[in-house]
Amino acid sequence: MTSMPSWTAADLPDLTGRTVVITGAGRGLGLITARELARVGARVVLGVRDTGKARGAVAGLPGTFEVRPLDVSDLASVRAFAGAWSGDLDLLINNAGVMDIPAARTADGLDLQTATNYTGPFLLTALLLDRITDRVVHVTSELHKQGRLDLTDLDWRTRKHNGMQVYRASKLAVVLFSLELQRRLTAAGSPVRSVLASPGIARTSLAAHSRSNVVNRLRFLTNAPERGALSILYAATQDVPGNSYVGPDGPGGFRGFPALRKPGKAGLDPALAGRLWDATADLVGAVAR
Ligand SMILES: NC(=O)c1ccc[n+]([C@@H]2O[C@H](COP(=O)([O-])OP(=O)(O)OC[C@H]3O[C@@H](n4cnc5c(N)ncnc54)[C@H](OP(=O)(O)O)[C@@H]3O)[C@@H](O)[C@H]2O)c1
Repeated sequence: MTSMPSWTAADLPDLTGRTVVITGAGRGLGLITARELARVGARVVLGVRDTGKARGAVAGLPGTFEVRPLDVSDLASVRAFAGAWSGDLDLLINNAGVMDIPAARTADGLDLQTATNYTGPFLLTALLLDRITDRVVHVTSELHKQGRLDLTDLDWRTRKHNGMQVYRASKLAVVLFSLELQRRLTAAGSPVRSVLASPGIARTSLAAHSRSNVVNRLRFLTNAPERGALSILYAATQDVPGNSYVGPDGPGGFRGFPALRKPGKAGLDPALAGRLWDATADLVGAVAR
């Protein structure tokens, strides 16, 4: 682990002239990330389900915000958001996420939690990629280390649905997505980077409804939301190598200041990452191999 001496949002560089998209930025870590990036000059586009609520959340904050409708679990909404984009996009932050929700299917028939955390962001990234000039930040979780993927049942059709298992698997898929995306970018000679951010455990409403003992037992180890967002802000703005994994420097990566950490072993498997990419492209049916 490479530690940086207590990096905070006060160390953010000037981002004047840069355009950033943050998904799920109407509350939680996404809103803090949006607020901080706008504070240092970025034009911040919030991709959110509830545009009225998001407008209210950023009203009066210093900086330039734009709020656009985006439900990342809905492939039509993802396509509409990407289709409406014009011009360069410096930075895409795939932040929107849900944890341990009951089994449900999207309008596309996809598992809702997987579609929100992984499948939708995969499609969004693929559709926007040729506009992105700097990097994609994928918000994952330390819990990806306990994730198990079944490429024959990525979308939880045949396995018994368990909300926490689905969450862990979706966040492992995100880690492998970053690995394969970076491989493809490098192979194509692109300067664009794919970077992972893990917030540790931050006191947002993500786990409010979760019955998971793990989450509730670990609450005493948690970060304030402001601290949790630092990993995302660091991954978004600092000169880190492609496919870096930025997470809190404390024990277990649960809390602390941003550091370059290592993802779990399964998240470093290039063959699995390649097969996952193909399986996901089949699932969303829209991305050229
Ligand atoms: N907090 C933690 O300890 C922790 C730890 C590890 C990873 N993370 C990750 O950090 C990210 C942010 O989580 P958080 O802690 O800030 O949770 P949060 O407070 O519950 O915020 C989640 C955000 O995602 C948005 N969202 C959910 N489904 C969406 C969809 N289909 N389309 C668009 N936006 C959607 C929510 O928007 P609505 O207002 O419309 O619901 C909300 O803005 C997630 O990816 C999460 O997995 C968090």
